[in-house]
Amino acid sequence: MRRILVTSALPYANGQIHLGHLVETIQTDIWVRFQKLKGHECLYFCADDTHGTPVMIRARQEGISPETLVERIHAEHLSDFQGFHIGFDNYYTTNSPENRLLSEEVYLNNRQAGNIRVSTVRQAYCEWDQMFLPDRFIRGNCPTCGAEDQYGDACEVCSGSHSPLDLKNPRCSLCGDTPVERDSEHYFFRLTAFETFLKEWIRSGAVQPEMANKLDEWFEAGLQDWDISRDGPYFGFEIPDAPGKYFYVWLDAPIGYMASCWEWCKRHGRDFDAIWRRDDLMEVYHFIGKDILYFHTLFWPATLRGAGFRTPTAVYTHGFLTVNGQKMSKSRGTFITARRYLELLDPEYLRYYYAAKLTARVDDLDLNLDDFILRVNSDLVGKVVNIASRSAGFIHKRFAGRLAENYPHDDGLHDQFVAAGEEIAAHYDAREFSKAMRAIMNLADLANRFVEAKAPWNLAKDPAKSDELRDTCTVAINLFRILMIYLQPVLPQLAEKCRDFLQLPPFGWESRLQPLYGQTIREFAHMMARVDPKKVESLVETVAPVVPPAFAAKPVVAKPATPAAAPVASPSVVTPSPAPPLGEPLDIETFGQVDLRVAKILAAEPVDGADKLLRLTLDVGELGHKTVFAGIRAAYAPETLPGRLTVLVANLKPRKMRFGVSEGMVLAAGSGGDQLFLLTPDLGAAPGMRIR
Ligand code: MSP
Ligand code: ZN
Repeated sequence: MRRILVTSALPYANGQIHLGHLVETIQTDIWVRFQKLKGHECLYFCADDTHGTPVMIRARQEGISPETLVERIHAEHLSDFQGFHIGFDNYYTTNSPENRLLSEEVYLNNRQAGNIRVSTVRQAYCEWDQMFLPDRFIRGNCPTCGAEDQYGDACEVCSGSHSPLDLKNPRCSLCGDTPVERDSEHYFFRLTAFETFLKEWIRSGAVQPEMANKLDEWFEAGLQDWDISRDGPYFGFEIPDAPGKYFYVWLDAPIGYMASCWEWCKRHGRDFDAIWRRDDLMEVYHFIGKDILYFHTLFWPATLRGAGFRTPTAVYTHGFLTVNGQKMSKSRGTFITARRYLELLDPEYLRYYYAAKLTARVDDLDLNLDDFILRVNSDLVGKVVNIASRSAGFIHKRFAGRLAENYPHDDGLHDQFVAAGEEIAAHYDAREFSKAMRAIMNLADLANRFVEAKAPWNLAKDPAKSDELRDTCTVAINLFRILMIYLQPVLPQLAEKCRDFLQLPPFGWESRLQPLYGQTIREFAHMMARVDPKKVESLVETVAPVVPPAFAAKPVVAKPATPAAAPVASPSVVTPSPAPPLGEPLDIETFGQVDLRVAKILAAEPVDGADKLLRLTLDVGELGHKTVFAGIRAAYAPETLPGRLTVLVANLKPRKMRFGVSEGMVLAAGSGGDQLFLLTPDLGAAPGMRIR
């Protein structure tokens, strides 16, 4: 028996699970289920990746603590994964006591070994928000091509990368202020000291050949020490002996694999140290996407090594999901969340479709929706389930549910099906799922040919051929059973239905050897429906649920007591989440500085590339016409708005956005998304009137 430990990358706790994530968890889950079916010990660990600035900011915007936010998201993620039958042994969180202890140990052991150094780093700092700004939280003009409103690290127009300090006209994306430059001490992990070790580890077969080439490029470019600290405020673990400094989320995230394992060990009386402090007890495999190769094949093995823990046996990288040949996109409707899919379709369709396309290589995988319908209907419904549905009825109607007393002569089909198991197992083990699926469907073709040649529906008409009818159906059901054993890693629920129908104990890979006869089976019940193309259509019609806008702005009124308590509103988008009770009481003079006006909506149009926004043209009487971008698209069809009166904050600093300048903010109540309700004055109010 092999002892194997497997992980999928930890999804970020600031977003929803989508079909891209599922490429990875389905790939991993199929592999794990296969190993279990073979009788090996295979433990599957994952967790939510909870730390970092985006989670902190989002919690602040929702007016809740980061802990509350990550607990809620954890429950959502777990239920999404369960919906797709992902069989984790543990789905934990990086915000756990186990992870804190392990992260500290990894760090302290490395420090002890001389692998940590400190240096001063100059960084963008927002004086309003009182924090250093991560690259993604600074926007400005690209220093190379001048394009407006680009992130601090890269330009979407010229594709160049740059330092946030080089951006022209940089602005904090939280408050819109111009950041200043400030020095701070950072802690670095000496990756450079591990070059020889890493090259050996990679040569040991730890990564796929095409990824080893990628790594060679990185070695040639020269390794650099890794900045593992961030200044507070930061949602994460404080670094020992370094008050106000936190571990960068990518330091503690992979340690989350170990923490998830440790928490499981505690509940199951297993020895965590034997798994992670020795390298001879278990094989350890990480399944990841190609975007996080650097973290898993350089930083991760090196930090483990430096801390005296075992290193992974291998890291298996997969490519990215495209939908209908293109990157998933919210505006095309192809950003499909796990939730949305589960509302409409059977998870096993997707598991099969991915399996039919997955290989051991790093190629991208396309979900072509027409192909999806065809493939699932023709393979699963047309080929596999069909074998049982065409033969089971006769066993029931004619033989009281009892199979033939001995296994009938079948021209060697059963033996052939059993023998094919060797090759199919080898494909599964090598993560060549598409080859495994092809081999299984070839067998299904043989089984169907057998049924068609025997034509039980004709045999049934001739009372003299009763034995032959029973034999034929017995063979067909046996072949179906073997196919279901082979498909169980991919289709656990269908396999379960098959076991129930045949009244069998749990399958093992070797259960296929023993044919089935002389026993009763249940009445055949519906096993899998055909894919409904209408449902697939509505999968891409509906835009994913709206999340709070990333661009929130400085509060108009009063100074916040602490940055963490600052109410966040946007000049253009009404804060769509439960707001915290505002911190400090405010005097009437301060409130009087807000210029609130009645405005008449003249026009409302959708904004290209921003699926939450409507561009409103407003008549504000003496103040003339104003353009405002409002995050109300999920709540209001644009054609319903013109003519209607509402309330405008008229003296907000105009804000330049990608699509134009927003000259104020309209007011709405509610929690966001489609739960937003525009304020409207009573009859008699006219455009431009002051609200007091
Ligand atoms: N939190 C990090 C991983 C930390 S692991 C110690 C992260 N999270 S993620 O939510 O962005 O992605 C989780 C996994 O899903 C990654 O392996 C990533 O490559 C994969 N995918 C995310 N989008 C994907 C596609 N569109 N297609 C295929 N895989 C994708 O990265
Ligand atoms: Zn700011």
